[in-house]
Amino acid sequence: MRPLDPLSSIKTKLGVVIVASVAVTVAVHTLGIRAGIPLFVVGGASGALSLLMVQFLAHGMTSPLREMAAAAKTMARGDYSKRVTATSRDEVGDLSRAFNAMASELEQVERMRRDLVANVSHELRTPISALQAVLENLIDGVEEPDPVTFTTMHEQVRRLGRLVSQLLDLSRLESGAVPLQRINFRLEDLLQQAVRESKLHSHNVHLTVDVRPPDLSADGDPERVHQVVANLIENAVRHSPADAEVSVSAYGDEHRVTIEVADEGPGIPQNEAGRVFERFYRADAARSSTQGGTGLGLAIARWIVDLHGGEIRVESREPTGCRMVVEFPGIAP
Ligand SMILES: Nc1ncnc2c1ncn2[C@@H]1O[C@H](COP(=O)(O)OP(=O)(O)OP(=O)(O)O)[C@@H](O)[C@H]1O
Ligand SMILES: [Mg+2]
Repeated sequence: MRPLDPLSSIKTKLGVVIVASVAVTVAVHTLGIRAGIPLFVVGGASGALSLLMVQFLAHGMTSPLREMAAAAKTMARGDYSKRVTATSRDEVGDLSRAFNAMASELEQVERMRRDLVANVSHELRTPISALQAVLENLIDGVEEPDPVTFTTMHEQVRRLGRLVSQLLDLSRLESGAVPLQRINFRLEDLLQQAVRESKLHSHNVHLTVDVRPPDLSADGDPERVHQVVANLIENAVRHSPADAEVSVSAYGDEHRVTIEVADEGPGIPQNEAGRVFERFYRADAARSSTQGGTGLGLAIARWIVDLHGGEIRVESREPTGCRMVVEFPGIAP
């Protein structure tokens, strides 16, 4: 039991402890002397009782500090699972709560780091194993060095190259190594350009662009915004059935600009809508990774949008499909 936990300051707690122990001493002294007990016995008894009182009242005042010292030592060894008792309402309680929050944060960062290493290794291993198998077959003469074999190998090397450049991009963005080159640009030009480029790879999907007002412009890094839009279009096209429509639109004014990429594919389930922006997250995990991407596209997109002070989210469409909405500040005043 921690009797002084409800008090909200260490000073008050110390005051209560002192007053209580003085009160005990005085009470024992008075009673002892009235009863005619020798002074040294009364002195000893009152000392012992006031010590007991302090022990009872001050219980829990310093134990969080000891717990924190022990937890900090465990953390130094890489174990972030320890938490300290934070029931007290005083400054030590505040410190305990801050300590627990820091421990949770560190635990999460550590988990993300481990996941990242595991994911990167896994993603690198898949194409490398495939390449290795084809090369071994070629050396053993099991497979002929024909165009199909070389196409497979080329595909795997391309995957590796893409993965490495995406990782590099993400780490540059996260570390702030590439500052945004902000200028004022016209959205219509940028969206048309992104759609033109993606039409080269998407023959059976209809892409449309709609910008209102047509001369809508925004402040930002057009290269990076283009990267976001291209990524969203690539996802939309990849998940669209044949002959479906992918519409790219932008609207807003000088204060706020919204870009939307909507498709008629299967959409993203509500419970996964937030997770698709995590690194390496693929909503349809069953799909073999050779068909799809690496799950980094939306993570990169979110970083870019964050750097612009904007927001990116998924909305679902009726009857089917998803709409990726990017909102960011328009023209800086
Ligand atoms: N338009 C969409 N329709 C349905 N699911 C989508 C759509 N866009 C993204 N997703 C889901 O979100 C996941 C994450 O998308 P993201 O762009 O980050 O990765 P990716 O496309 O798999 O790979 P990468 O973009 O790195 O090549 C996808 O794997 C897919 O499951
Ligand atoms: Mg993608």
